[in-house]
Amino acid sequence: MRIIVGVSGGIAAYKACEVVRRLKELGHSVRVIPTPSALKFVGAATFEALSGEPVTTIVWERVDEVAHVALGQGADLIVVAPATANTISRFAQGSADDLLTSTLLVTRAPILLAPAMHTEMWENASVQENIATLKRRGVHVIDPAVGRLTGSDSGVGRLPEPLQIVERALSLVMPQDYAGKRVMITAGGTREKIDPVRYVGNNSSGKQGVALARAASARGAVVTLIAAHVESTLLAALDPKIQIQRVSTAEEMNESVWNSVAGNDVVIMAAAVADFRPKSVSASKIKKDSGVGLTIDLEANVDILASLCAGREALKKGAYLVGFAAETGDERTPMELAIAKLRRKPVDLLVMNDVSGGQVFGEEENQATLIFGPDGKESIGLERMSKDTLSHVVLDHLKERLI
Ligand code: CTP
Repeated sequence: MRIIVGVSGGIAAYKACEVVRRLKELGHSVRVIPTPSALKFVGAATFEALSGEPVTTIVWERVDEVAHVALGQGADLIVVAPATANTISRFAQGSADDLLTSTLLVTRAPILLAPAMHTEMWENASVQENIATLKRRGVHVIDPAVGRLTGSDSGVGRLPEPLQIVERALSLVMPQDYAGKRVMITAGGTREKIDPVRYVGNNSSGKQGVALARAASARGAVVTLIAAHVESTLLAALDPKIQIQRVSTAEEMNESVWNSVAGNDVVIMAAAVADFRPKSVSASKIKKDSGVGLTIDLEANVDILASLCAGREALKKGAYLVGFAAETGDERTPMELAIAKLRRKPVDLLVMNDVSGGQVFGEEENQATLIFGPDGKESIGLERMSKDTLSHVVLDHLKERLI
């Protein structure tokens, strides 16, 4: 996709770099159009290096390209981050006094504004009226976040997280093929308490589950994300319309899943649920001088996915169940182990990852085989790809099979 990132002159301009970088990582072609004052915060060279495209700010540059018309006409999507009070005002008035405002007037592509300014400015009636005018004309606006502003003050007016801006922008051009569907996803690793400071855990980062939640939400689904231990920056960057339930242990996850599962069209168990938990939890920190060595007795946790498979009558009719299988292989191949898992947990789709050698955990990319249940006869081996792309591929395959 050809995406224009407009940057106006506010301190948050440096965060536009992250927006550009993310869009490039996702494979889009990006052209940055800063206002002249944005360049007082971040240099053109930075935007050129990140986007791999020339940077122009006024209509008198690259006149031969007729840039003030061509860029807007050729764009599939425009995101302005940050959008300052001044740029918002000029856009609302229909000004075309620099390349960014000219492009905004020319384009027929969806436009997302990410306003960022001090609270008093944001709340000023003229800014609010300009925003209302632009929204009425079909311009999309992501609400500014609440938090630390430039000086010592804090309040509403902070630029939302760059990843959140990217998500919201892409959702404007994403097919809304999951509109009207409810999708529940579990993510991250559970932690089973040993004592107040220790736990039994695993290497899951939660990235794949979070990527699935992001993708389903961007395609119009109403998403519930049940997150065990997931890198907190990943959750902070999610669109606020994703309902997040935080849990810690397998037991808590089981409770949350069962409380929320009814009514979902798709249930994806991407979480790394601990199979075992300590039989008893010490109320105080276990001291190393309390004896020679330490033996912890473990007992089995509930297998949430198995219980969902066994209790399908409590799920929405035709609900699609997806499990994940992280396999290292033993004397059997990862595929043989995954098929055996499918027999124990007859899901509709098992996403099998080969994790031999510690692959996949915490990484940005994943290599998966999609094995369709219940007999596992149909399988699709996928190339190694980003967890975001894999999420969309999984959703593409699911969509064809959803009632
Ligand atoms: N799962 C679950 N509850 C558990 C353990 C796993 O719901 N107590 C789910 C995971 O979310 C995943 C699938 O079951 O979707 C496979 O989990 P995995 O740990 O790979 O397999 P196990 O069934 O635990 O089998 P094994 O440990 O023998 O590989």
